Amino acid sequence: MIFDYRPGLEKIKPYSVEEKDWDIKLDANESPNNLPPLVRERVMNRLEYLAFNRYPEIGMRDLRAQIAESFNMNIQNVQIGNGSSEIIMALCQVFGGPGRSIIFPVPSFSMYAVYAQVTDSHPVPVQLGADYSVPRDKVLQAAEESNAKLIILCNPNNPTGTVMPHEDIEYIVSQAKCPVLVDEAYFEFYGQSAVDLMNKYDNVIIARTFSKAYGLAAARVGYVLANADIITMLERVLMPYHINSLSLATAEILYQMRDEFMPGLEQMIAERKRLTGSLEAIAGIKVYPSETNFILIRTTKSEELSAYLSAKNIGIRDFSAAPGLINCIRFTVGTPLENDDLLKAILAFMKEGAV
Ligand SMILES: Cc1ncc(COP(=O)(O)O)c(C=O)c1O
Repeated sequence: MIFDYRPGLEKIKPYSVEEKDWDIKLDANESPNNLPPLVRERVMNRLEYLAFNRYPEIGMRDLRAQIAESFNMNIQNVQIGNGSSEIIMALCQVFGGPGRSIIFPVPSFSMYAVYAQVTDSHPVPVQLGADYSVPRDKVLQAAEESNAKLIILCNPNNPTGTVMPHEDIEYIVSQAKCPVLVDEAYFEFYGQSAVDLMNKYDNVIIARTFSKAYGLAAARVGYVLANADIITMLERVLMPYHINSLSLATAEILYQMRDEFMPGLEQMIAERKRLTGSLEAIAGIKVYPSETNFILIRTTKSEELSAYLSAKNIGIRDFSAAPGLINCIRFTVGTPLENDDLLKAILAFMKEGAV
């Protein structure tokens, strides 16, 4: 039988990662640290008593209330997602659709384009500047010309690690005639948020995740902050019980105990600074300033360096041939020992050109 698939799917590139048993895994912007021991213990105790036979609590009120309280908001301003990915996709369902445009930066998180396509929306990429700065007037112009229904900004941006000044975000939010989603997946490594703009503008949406700074990538939990109308509309497209009870229970404990993550977070930031400094000292490598848990570098030998690191069983993300990222490699900041090994390997390669 010839299957009659929905038109447009042929244009979508499935998300792909090189699954390998890396000695040092620095390819996915994950935390190098598993849960802090105290948090892990509490999670394990909680899971022992979990009602596996029951559907999860549908309102997710405990986690939503905890998050709302920490932002001085109401529970109606918070919703949980199966990773922030689900939230971004759901927002594309809510605001996109046939003939409706969604603006997003490129290069940035590759899934923005996919979610726009999957929801049959019209994807409108806006090219970042040569230094990966966000051209705020071009964003607004593209939004105006395409009568955009949603603008997505990524701050700090993946995979460049670069940030947008707060005043540029406010400028876009204040001028835009549609909602602006600020994807703050890497917020904790930066410390500056656009969340304060929610007090002034009703079109600001903030997405966050537990997958990065909180090291909970396995459980797939993220959240969104937005005005109550938007949250209500999101609830129309989200599946019932879209967060499983194991993840929900884990995230509730994690959020209560989030102070336990501070030492690990501080170490990741210190290691990012150390790595940046050491890489800047290597001739032939350009290092982009990063406010995240990863670093993007550019070198004319990027393909060979990627192959070299791969042969050493160090997993990194090779963007050598990606549009707007030619000759670039991205790697996550790992543990101090992992970073030492990465640096040693890069130094050896750049000095001797060893392949
Ligand atoms: C900018 C950005 N947004 C969102 C996500 C999705 O994260 P998750 O679905 O794990 O919350 C990622 C993951 O890498 C990301 O880099």
